[in-house]
Amino acid sequence: MKVVIIGSGNAATVLGTKIFQAGHEILQVISRQQAHAARLASALHSTFSSDLSAINREAELYLAALSDNALYGMGAQLSLPGKLVVHTAGTVPKEVLRTVSARCGVLYPLQSLRKEIFPFPEVPLLIDACEPGDRVRLADFARTISAFVREAGDEERLKLHLAAVMVNNFTNYLYTMAADFCGREKVDFLLLLPLIKETADRLSHFPPRDVQTGPAVRGDDSTIQKHLDLLSNYKEMMEFYQLFTNKIEAFYNNPEIPS
Ligand SMILES: NC(=O)c1ccc[n+]([C@@H]2O[C@H](COP(=O)([O-])OP(=O)(O)OC[C@H]3O[C@@H](n4cnc5c(N)ncnc54)[C@H](OP(=O)(O)O)[C@@H]3O)[C@@H](O)[C@H]2O)c1
Repeated sequence: MKVVIIGSGNAATVLGTKIFQAGHEILQVISRQQAHAARLASALHSTFSSDLSAINREAELYLAALSDNALYGMGAQLSLPGKLVVHTAGTVPKEVLRTVSARCGVLYPLQSLRKEIFPFPEVPLLIDACEPGDRVRLADFARTISAFVREAGDEERLKLHLAAVMVNNFTNYLYTMAADFCGREKVDFLLLLPLIKETADRLSHFPPRDVQTGPAVRGDDSTIQKHLDLLSNYKEMMEFYQLFTNKIEAFYNNPEIPS
């Protein structure tokens, strides 16, 4: 397929690279900052521009991997009648692109993407389209760059995005706090990696509620107190520790009320 990539950040770079590696032709990279467009275009062997009015109109697919806010403004700046135009956002409705083209859609990567982290990971793709025929076309295209492709409407995508924030963004912030604590207390954070991996791997076989361990679920008050004493100089971490401990204790005392 002939593709134009709009945007040059994390999603544009990872998806653009996968699209290129799958043998599709990237006609052009368009991005607000010319230097960013040029850098990605060079990797994808395509032309580039920072001017939306200079967009190449010969492509079969336009992939808009822009910040969520920028997507809402796209309709005022671009019109591509008859062209399939998709965005990559979890929380933005597909209809946001209807003023760009009636053939609007979504190619949402349900993965954490960072353009500087290699190799690029497997990227599950959730697709949707305003025209039913484009759902099939987009699914066929998506399967050329990912082994996991599923249809998901706006509401399902929004809910999955929220769950993704919980399991990825929030978890990573906990890692950040723990890594900072380890650094300041001169213990090696990387010793925790097998534990982190095992915790994630178990989810392939068990629901998370069945594999909880630790002092809060055991009711080991003396251990909890030792941890809190150690956290006396770490106000924010202590807040998280107390909140999670209270929530875990309450949940396992009455597992019927998780929310
Ligand atoms: N990264 C992820 O893990 C991930 C995962 C799933 C979905 N997504 C979705 O993918 C989309 C892009 O995310 P990202 O992580 O790739 O973001 P990013 O790395 O910050 O890149 C944002 C892109 O949007 C462009 N942009 C920002 N503000 C703009 C504006 N006002 N007008 C025009 N262009 C503008 C930037 O262009 P310049 O660089 O030229 O300024 C850049 O190419 C978002 O909708 C996000 O929800 C991201």
